[in-house]
Amino acid sequence: VQVTFIEADGTRRTVEAREGEPLMISARNIGVRGIVAECGGSAMCATCHCYVIETPGGDLPAPRADEADTIEFNANEPRENSRLTCQIMVTPALDGAVFQVATGR
Ligand code: FES
Repeated sequence: VQVTFIEADGTRRTVEAREGEPLMISARNIGVRGIVAECGGSAMCATCHCYVIETPGGDLPAPRADEADTIEFNANEPRENSRLTCQIMVTPALDGAVFQVATGR
């Protein structure tokens, strides 16, 4: 499953994401800049915050309440398309998806 991250300076990084793992893990594995994931994937720190740019395989499942709350209260510049990548499970539908790394928290 190939997923692309756009870093703050516009660099595009494509990762081979493993199904069944949170997307944040794949980003961390290749060292996508700006994906810090301080809380280790507990939907608390918002340092894995990205904007969803493209999901050719269809819309992502909606965020759970804890993810939505963390985005609202902890994320820097939350937008309509904000997600925490630690809460996105990699599935085949994610193939070709593009995420933009949010700056700061
Ligand atoms: Fe902390 Fe995702 S890793 S919210």
